Amino acid sequence: MIIGIPKESLATETRVAATPKSVAQLLKLGYGVQIESGAGEKAAFPDEAYTAAGAEIVTRELAWSAPIVAKINAPTDDEIALAQEGATLISLIAAPRSPELLEKLAARKLTVLAMDSVPRISRAQSLDVISSMANIGGYRAVIEAAHEFGSFFTGQVTAAGKVPPAHVFVSGTGVAGLAAIGTARSLGAIVKATDIRAETAEQVESMGAEFVAVESGESQQSSDGYAKEATEDYAAAAARMYARQVPEQDIIITTAQIPGRPAPRLISAEMVATMKPGSVIVDMAASSGGNVEGSVADEVVTTANGVKIIGYSDLPGRLPTQASQLFATNIVNLMKLITTGKDGQLTLDLEDVVQRGMLVAQAGEVTFPPPAVSVSAAPAAAPAAAEVAAKPEKKPTDPRLLYAGAAVIALLALALFWVSPSSLLGHFMVLMLSVVIGFYVIGNVSHSLHTPLMSVTNAISGIIVVGCLVGLTFFDKSAGFNLSNILILVLSAAGILLASINVFGGFTVTGRMLKMFRKEG
Ligand code: NAI
Repeated sequence: MIIGIPKESLATETRVAATPKSVAQLLKLGYGVQIESGAGEKAAFPDEAYTAAGAEIVTRELAWSAPIVAKINAPTDDEIALAQEGATLISLIAAPRSPELLEKLAARKLTVLAMDSVPRISRAQSLDVISSMANIGGYRAVIEAAHEFGSFFTGQVTAAGKVPPAHVFVSGTGVAGLAAIGTARSLGAIVKATDIRAETAEQVESMGAEFVAVESGESQQSSDGYAKEATEDYAAAAARMYARQVPEQDIIITTAQIPGRPAPRLISAEMVATMKPGSVIVDMAASSGGNVEGSVADEVVTTANGVKIIGYSDLPGRLPTQASQLFATNIVNLMKLITTGKDGQLTLDLEDVVQRGMLVAQAGEVTFPPPAVSVSAAPAAAPAAAEVAAKPEKKPTDPRLLYAGAAVIALLALALFWVSPSSLLGHFMVLMLSVVIGFYVIGNVSHSLHTPLMSVTNAISGIIVVGCLVGLTFFDKSAGFNLSNILILVLSAAGILLASINVFGGFTVTGRMLKMFRKEG
């Protein structure tokens, strides 16, 4: 089958749905690719690059006459008229906000796969354009802010004086927010962030930013992986937190969004008025109502106190080459999913929640909304009360038994010290203290840090191996296999064996981890 890639008709659109790299991947799946002349121009992909990759450059009409058409934006009425009846269309659709468009697509008997209706489940991440575009958007938001900001992001000590680092605050730590945190941190800023979903705190902290919690005791998430609307209590507590944080910030990036609802208003005009002149706010939700009072979609507004509020809604399109590449890769991943035979034939499996979730029109019918999907991102529901009650209660251990056990251990230790040479007592004390300190040090380290911790235990194991080798030198050949020699042999051999397992195991795990970061090919 042929996949047609038309040029985007929206004058402000810079992206294209296929790149030379994705063309080669689509050809491997058995498809032919026809690209409208000039489709990739704004994204720095000339026609010649597509031809070299194996695509055919065609007219607008021919690109639209293909049995499969892939593009970025939802089609206009003219474009729907150009499409072949019964063809498959792959593009953004904004299905919840476009009931009329869905009717028109169904009337044309098109099979429509909406790239912005991919369910939020881990398996579908490779085709999720919302995430890939939000990632670029978050990055670009920081770059736009840096462009408008009159100072460095990073702190510097120069001959001419000390420059303090910029303070950046990110509201909403979804894909866009995390990308913004990463970018601002890499530019050297001090970053704080908040989210209505308190479970994102760990991700924020792992990126080197500080999580600012709203003191309301509420954390919310709906079953589709997105946040729910805040309650009045939460909104009031959040307003107090913003009133404290906003005056201290140089840059604020807001990304808070609840699907299908106007964006939550987080920062009022009074709060903006407390910021220093020259501060910059990027309101990524400006086009859906805005998180910041006074932001205007697609414009930069300068307030009376000299704060710039950026409301661009085309942030991914401001990085057209990268955005096209990621969008095109998302389409290739979709085609891999629906081309099971790698024979250039598309087969939809409506039992698959990903494909069903994306299908918004088929055979003259509107198939949106799909049945609800519960996602892995959402916390599992709390077990029912009856289930909890049914769980057998663990019997507490009788304290008398514990005391008796401790007394026996103490007596055994005393007996051991009685018969051992006095030098053992010192060694034993060191061993006991090491056990206690080691237990608390390792026990309190979060799981994510166990790998770096392993390098420390590896070093300790190395010392143990050396110690055991030194121990072997005490083996007295002339005495033969007496008790002391047997003890030296057994203990040293056991020490070397156990410590070596740790050392070589460490090498293996490190090797595996390095492999994850190594580029293929
Ligand atoms: P997302 O749904 O992954 O993230 C939104 C985050 O906001 C979630 O973590 C959610 O918990 C949080 N949130 C919701 N209500 C909140 C509240 N009251 N206070 C604090 N946090 C709250 O969305 P994603 O993919 O990260 O995109 C973020 C926003 O950026 C969306 O509005 C999206 O439309 C927009 N966007 C804008 C672009 C532009 O060019 N301006 C480009 C790409 C995305």
